Amino acid sequence: MATFPRQAHKEKLMEAIEQICSNLMLLSEMGCKGFDCSNQSLHIVSGWGKKVYNQVESLEKIRKDIGECDRCRLSKNRRNIVFGSGNPHASLMFVGEGPGYEEDIQGEPFVGAAGQLLTRIIKAIKLSREQVYICNVVKCRPPDNRTPTADEIMACLPFLQRQIRAIQPRFLCTLGTIATKSLLQIDEPISVLRGKFYDLGQIKVIPTYHPAYLLRNPERKRDVWEDMKKLMNAMGIDTGKNP
Ligand code: URA
Repeated sequence: MATFPRQAHKEKLMEAIEQICSNLMLLSEMGCKGFDCSNQSLHIVSGWGKKVYNQVESLEKIRKDIGECDRCRLSKNRRNIVFGSGNPHASLMFVGEGPGYEEDIQGEPFVGAAGQLLTRIIKAIKLSREQVYICNVVKCRPPDNRTPTADEIMACLPFLQRQIRAIQPRFLCTLGTIATKSLLQIDEPISVLRGKFYDLGQIKVIPTYHPAYLLRNPERKRDVWEDMKKLMNAMGIDTGKNP
């Protein structure tokens, strides 16, 4: 059935309102009691509506807006901001937690031991790193690879959301708890969420275990392979022959 432009706009507006509501609920759960209504903040908020009408911005613009970021304490110890890499028009995007030691040094996501495993997973689904887009929730390495805190995630999440809107992938695979909860805002363990598809606007999101977790728990690789087969089926990639 044809959708009239007015109806399409209304649907996008409803989607935006739902997203605002879930973000407000998340902020309230984190103890937020109010908002800054300065000109600077109002200017940021006034930009939100434009994106609702699909004015896609470039990854370069988003990277430029991040600048030499010092929005959170992770900036203190980082060597490089790890923005993301891969195909800016990818139909599949992988989102991890945050850079580790190697990523911090090289400025590229998933290039250490966990990254090598992710590369193997991508090959197993018959794609290459150049065909997909890979990034993280936080762009700076947390000291000693600790889990990023809620305020660090909130400082960086708008950039991830803009990356997703810029790339507009059809599918997105969240790697581990932090990426899954940050994007889907569902408070369930990754063991429960993994291997199922969730809607993020028009994007189908499939959570799976983080490759670093797989390095510590290799017996879980089988579960990830099951998740990847579901992803391949949904993407129309033949699962027939393993590499
Ligand atoms: N772990 C992540 O979550 N991201 C990386 O880039 C590397 C390791």
